[in-house]
Amino acid sequence: MSELKNDLLLKALRGENVERPPVWMMRQAGRYLPEYIALREKYDFFTRVQTPELAAEITLQPVRRIGVDAAIIFSDILVIPQAMGVEVLMEEGKGPLLPNVIKTEKDIISLFTDKVEEKLDYVMKALTLTKQELNGEVPLIGFAGAPWTILCYMVEGKGSKTWEKAKEFCFTQPDLAHRLLQKITDITIHYLKAQIKAGADVVQIFDSWAGSLGPEDFKRFAQPYLIQIADALQDDAPVILFPKGSWYALEELSESSASALGIDWCISPKMARELTSGKITLQGNFDPAKLLLPIDDIQKEAKKMISEFGVQKYVVNLGHGITPNIPVDHARAFVDAVKGSQW
Ligand code: CP3
Repeated sequence: MSELKNDLLLKALRGENVERPPVWMMRQAGRYLPEYIALREKYDFFTRVQTPELAAEITLQPVRRIGVDAAIIFSDILVIPQAMGVEVLMEEGKGPLLPNVIKTEKDIISLFTDKVEEKLDYVMKALTLTKQELNGEVPLIGFAGAPWTILCYMVEGKGSKTWEKAKEFCFTQPDLAHRLLQKITDITIHYLKAQIKAGADVVQIFDSWAGSLGPEDFKRFAQPYLIQIADALQDDAPVILFPKGSWYALEELSESSASALGIDWCISPKMARELTSGKITLQGNFDPAKLLLPIDDIQKEAKKMISEFGVQKYVVNLGHGITPNIPVDHARAFVDAVKGSQW
């Protein structure tokens, strides 16, 4: 495997000194890029995900176009329910739909946790191909959904603002919920280990809906599984945990074996540093909607954010994924604010 020409992300995740912080954007592959939209017209979502050449091409697009310091593999968190035997449809413009939701013990018993490497072989092929095509330019990030966030989709069947059914399931049938969460955790650990073997230099765990749980319930239904995953991977590659919205968990998670914690814009850099006592690298937390500001203001706001976090132990990113309405030159301005300044 080729040496990395740009290892800023790996250095920041190891807590080593950097001349400037690395920058990438969650959901940078896809959505707002015209070259992605062109591919979307030709191939449906899961064809894009399951064809290694297409997934590799989409992964490389933002590296070429806006010059980010890392690539994140084009895939989806919902390939895990698929590998467990659950049907997942992606309705163009609407989001995911899982027609057969998990309700009973029987449903959970019938879920597969084996052969993930074979079933998701197309992800491994996409990673290996992307790694080759990157030719050491920047590191490659693999990812998975966190068990709680995956449970949300498996029980609710589609996106939700409140995740009422998922919460009802956890609160009224906690034993079943823990069995499901443990099954998702087991397969996710195998999946991420396979991703690292196939070429991922770093992995991120997206707990996108963590913030719909209060502190105590996060500690019951989300945190233990995040910690299991981080512990299982600590000797394989750096792990970034992104428990979106769960600022209350930062203090405890800063003691975990993860290399970094992702945060959203609902907590100040100062407070996040205080809660984590400067112990762990932080990633975030620019409000994606601020990418709609005029370019000069994007750059001013980005620099202000970096000065608040500090240059070391920091990965510049958004506080959640980039949205489809962001002009490409605004996304690039955000990256340039980091790369073009003296720190
Ligand atoms: O970061 C990247 O650029 C890599 C690609 C990536 C996708 N999904 C591609 C995608 C990643 C990291 C994800 C993760 C993902 N998928 C999450 C966690 C991150 C987050 O934003 O919270 C979640 C919750 C999902 C589930 C999912 N997939 C939803 C809710 C949707 C529809 C709405 C939307 O656009 O996000 C998807 C579809 C999806 N996954 C698209 C992309 C580019 C959009 C569909 C399209 O462009 O055709």
